[in-house]
Amino acid sequence: MITSAVRAEALAVDGPTYLYDLGHLDAHVAAIRAALPSQVELLYAMKANPDPALLGIVARHTGGIEVASGGELAHLARTLPGTPAAAFGGPGKTDAEIAEALAAGVRRFHVESPWELHRLDGLARAAGRVADVLLRVNLPVSAPGGAALMMGGRPSPFGMDPADADDCARRIPDLSGVRLRGVHAHLASGLDAAGAGVVARTIVEWALRFAADVGLTATEVNIGGGMAVDYARPDSRFDWVMYGATLRRLLDAQAARTLRIEPGRAVTAYSGWYATRVLDLKRSHGEWFAIVAGGTHHLRTPAAKGHSQPLVALPGGGAPVADGAPVTVVGQLCTPKDVLARRVPVRLAIGDVVVFAMAGAYAWNISHQNFLMHPPPAVRHLAGSTDHLPSVT
Ligand SMILES: Cc1ncc(COP(=O)(O)O)c(C=O)c1O
Repeated sequence: MITSAVRAEALAVDGPTYLYDLGHLDAHVAAIRAALPSQVELLYAMKANPDPALLGIVARHTGGIEVASGGELAHLARTLPGTPAAAFGGPGKTDAEIAEALAAGVRRFHVESPWELHRLDGLARAAGRVADVLLRVNLPVSAPGGAALMMGGRPSPFGMDPADADDCARRIPDLSGVRLRGVHAHLASGLDAAGAGVVARTIVEWALRFAADVGLTATEVNIGGGMAVDYARPDSRFDWVMYGATLRRLLDAQAARTLRIEPGRAVTAYSGWYATRVLDLKRSHGEWFAIVAGGTHHLRTPAAKGHSQPLVALPGGGAPVADGAPVTVVGQLCTPKDVLARRVPVRLAIGDVVVFAMAGAYAWNISHQNFLMHPPPAVRHLAGSTDHLPSVT
């Protein structure tokens, strides 16, 4: 759960600190890439973690970055100059964001609605450009195994119904500012490899029928992200090898197609840790609580997903107060929701370091950072460890 580089650095922290192990990330993304057929384009959904050093590592192994706002677009231009975003997705794109994306040479626009298509066409014509478009569809698919966050297959603000996609595709030949390239669908998060394979097949088969119906050749299909990260089983990994084999079979069945994926969480989650110290330990109505510096305003993931963030305790020299009885680890916020881990069997003393693992995705960047106005965490990038590498299977 913790690399030797992270352990060494964590023992020295004096306040809440994010530790990113870049060597760990490099090896992990390389292994993901190696598990996928070479024809599958691997993008990274920057929303999972836009940290510049992480982006630099991820970009080495992927075919580009998916952005979902003008902010991410500008951040990418600053961080990796000369690397246009591979895709611009997300609902509610403003005219200004679309114009910036056109000027920045974004390679694909994931269009979320008929109205967005209309605006993109006008803005592209005004800019003297032709925007390459994938229509984002909300397909009637139920995710196998009860995936964590359903973003499609039911009423949702994401993408458009098949009938609207059909209307858009039939209108596009009359629009000189847009060119239809294919279909995008991101339907669920938290899919295991078997479930992701079923969703992939459903999307691809639908996309091929759609393309044939609307007369589109050389269809591109982006099947989104959503590969599972299991916070209750820190040593388990999404089975990229199994998933790669499924995608290979899909490609073999239809060789002329471009297949693309855009995972976020499963790429960076394992390479980030949040280390902090125990400020206080107390018993309340029979239960132990450890109050650590920082909290969910730095690491919102456990509050957002309702889990206990996996943790390792490193002794700080004091005598353990809570000796083996379950401890709820909370932060400094004045809300009962500020819980990082609930009733975990851990021996803690005041001054110990608690290192929360799996904090490399949807963590610092999704946190309500200004609540109570505590200082932000420090961020350290470690050259890295090659020990404790995650396996991709
Ligand atoms: C359109 C789209 N693509 C990709 C992702 C990345 O998903 P994940 O981080 O679960 O892989 C998201 C996440 O919300 C998304 O909305």
